[in-house]
Amino acid sequence: MGSERSKILIFGATGYLGKYMVKASVSIGHFTYAYTRPLKPNNKDNSKLELLNEFQSMGVCIIQGELDEHENLVSLLRKVDIVISTLAVPQYLEQLKIIRAMKDAGTIKRFIPSEFGNEVDKVKALPPLEVVFSNKRMIRRATEAAGIPYTFVSANSLAAYFVNYFLHPNEKKRDEVIVYGDGKAKAVLNYEDDVATYTLKAATDATAANRVVVIRPPDNIVSQLDTICAWEKKIGQTLKKIHVPEEEIIKLSQSKSIMVNNMNYFANDF
Ligand SMILES: NC(=O)c1ccc[n+]([C@@H]2O[C@H](COP(=O)([O-])OP(=O)(O)OC[C@H]3O[C@@H](n4cnc5c(N)ncnc54)[C@H](OP(=O)(O)O)[C@@H]3O)[C@@H](O)[C@H]2O)c1
Repeated sequence: MGSERSKILIFGATGYLGKYMVKASVSIGHFTYAYTRPLKPNNKDNSKLELLNEFQSMGVCIIQGELDEHENLVSLLRKVDIVISTLAVPQYLEQLKIIRAMKDAGTIKRFIPSEFGNEVDKVKALPPLEVVFSNKRMIRRATEAAGIPYTFVSANSLAAYFVNYFLHPNEKKRDEVIVYGDGKAKAVLNYEDDVATYTLKAATDATAANRVVVIRPPDNIVSQLDTICAWEKKIGQTLKKIHVPEEEIIKLSQSKSIMVNNMNYFANDF
């Protein structure tokens, strides 16, 4: 690997982050394959169809399939070098099917599983999110046990996603903003485009093999109040801050749940 063109297969390619990965892979010049579930005959989701057409016009090879089709998956994996997954949170453990197929294919040079958040081997989350973290750890352990070369990418917080959540910039004029705790806790906000470019670079970088890559540029470490302040400057208006105390956030987190599909998965198979 290195600067030569690789064959890169992306699972979850039509998703929020997946489409950035596809575009980054194409713009670097890799042969890019986008894996997607077959469109239903009565499909009414024009946005997915339009995206697949856009991919095709960029030279991306579209593969339609189901993760249960093991033999098809193995043959497909033998045709590519690198696998990147951006499957959705509820489908994390579906990646065990991909890992099993990569193990049988025996040819994959690098696997980057769907993560792109916190460094899950180093931090614990509040209860609802901890289920998600523990599934990410399970995928890490299964990848290692299967002996597939990997890079785990910790991208911290996706910037457009969180700016949208913090500030609701696209909503009609608002006079107030919700502030979590005192708003001073620091987070790392990385733009989706950059996360995809770093991920694609790491995928072919020999020094990133079997390591965790943490994306944490110093200038991207900001608090919610920093983002509010920048937004106020941009719109020329001071917003009323409504604080939600930290204890209330913790209490709220205990009554929430995140939907994950953990049925019928056995990570010990590897
Ligand atoms: N750190 C952050 O701030 C942050 C923010 C957002 C996301 N992320 C991470 O980015 C990764 C991708 O998340 P995302 O929001 O981009 O995902 P997403 O858009 O919700 O979904 C990604 C793809 O998963 C596939 N999928 C959905 N349901 C499925 C099912 N039932 N079975 C099989 N495949 C299914 C779909 O592809 P097809 O329909 O084409 O098959 C979909 O396009 C996750 O690891 C997530 O945690 C991180």
